[in-house]
Amino acid sequence: MISLNINGKTQAINVDPDTPLLWVLREHAGLTGTKYGCGIAQCGACTVHVDGVAMRSCSVPASLAIGKQITTIEGLATNGVLHKVQKAWLDHDVPQCGYCQSGMIMAVAALLKDKPKPTEADIDSNITNICRCGTFQQVRAAIHAAAQA
Ligand code: FES
Ligand code: FES
Repeated sequence: MISLNINGKTQAINVDPDTPLLWVLREHAGLTGTKYGCGIAQCGACTVHVDGVAMRSCSVPASLAIGKQITTIEGLATNGVLHKVQKAWLDHDVPQCGYCQSGMIMAVAALLKDKPKPTEADIDSNITNICRCGTFQQVRAAIHAAAQA
């Protein structure tokens, strides 16, 4: 049994602490907004925040998040108000199939917290998420719009 704080709520979850955080979120906490893409920390579909830092949850054990604040896409909005990245995503019609997008949004939200006005180089080095639909140009435009919001 481990205790995790997910989106502001502490939950006791009966799981092996070595289980990848992604599966704990999806299978035990029922938060399926975080997606499984590659399982080897390459695509970013599984990105969540642990104490505000973007992490690829397929490749970290749940035990790493004990005593920390986990935020998933379901917890990014505050009191029903969308995060500025979510708003920019809507304004720029970023998603196509949508599969990669929750991870993309979480990665961008963490970047903007760290670097409120990211340069192109900052975006290149921090947003390495893969989108099979090729939304990269819309992603970039929406990042700049969110940075101005
Ligand atoms: S599923 Fe985690 S990085 Fe691809
Ligand atoms: S929107 Fe389809 S994979 Fe990114």
